[in-house]
Amino acid sequence: MATLEIVRLGHPALRSPAEPVDPERLATAELQELIDSLVETMRDAGGVGLAAPQVGLPLQLFVYGLEADEAGDEDPIPVRAVVNPMVEPEAGEPVQEWEGCLSIPGLRGLVPRFPAVRLHALDRYGDRVDERIEGFAARVVQHEFDHLNGVVFLDRMGDLRSLAFEEEWARYLGEEAEEPGGVGEPVG
Ligand code: NI
Repeated sequence: MATLEIVRLGHPALRSPAEPVDPERLATAELQELIDSLVETMRDAGGVGLAAPQVGLPLQLFVYGLEADEAGDEDPIPVRAVVNPMVEPEAGEPVQEWEGCLSIPGLRGLVPRFPAVRLHALDRYGDRVDERIEGFAARVVQHEFDHLNGVVFLDRMGDLRSLAFEEEWARYLGEEAEEPGGVGEPVG
């Protein structure tokens, strides 16, 4: 495993659609090591999600999760890899919460997301996933899925006036959201 370099806004990989992963590649050590490295990089950066385009790789692959010791008041989310996903909104009005992105360091903004989604994908072993996901995990999945389509959270903000630097956000806007994993935690 190795920690990978996270690319920042301006890198073309963040604005290009990613390519599907050949499911047969999931059986290779190369892909399994890449998944482990994405998880390690996400943890190292303090994120709850990381998509392959964020390390400059145009693959439809992301990891996400929130471990118990970092979850604060949030429910832990098992760490997993998601391959070749399709994400569909379930019924429910979009909800605004704070988000950040490891590729847009230092900024937070209010982003509307669907409260629940249906995730169709493969897991890291190539097994099919078909799940309803809700709450904070649904927000993370929507954020990471966007990365596979060249979309970042700034594009999803209904109103850019909530955009804030982390320090100012913590001072003026986010006092109820300080603990890791709470609203406002950088998503990835
Ligand atoms: Ni992100």
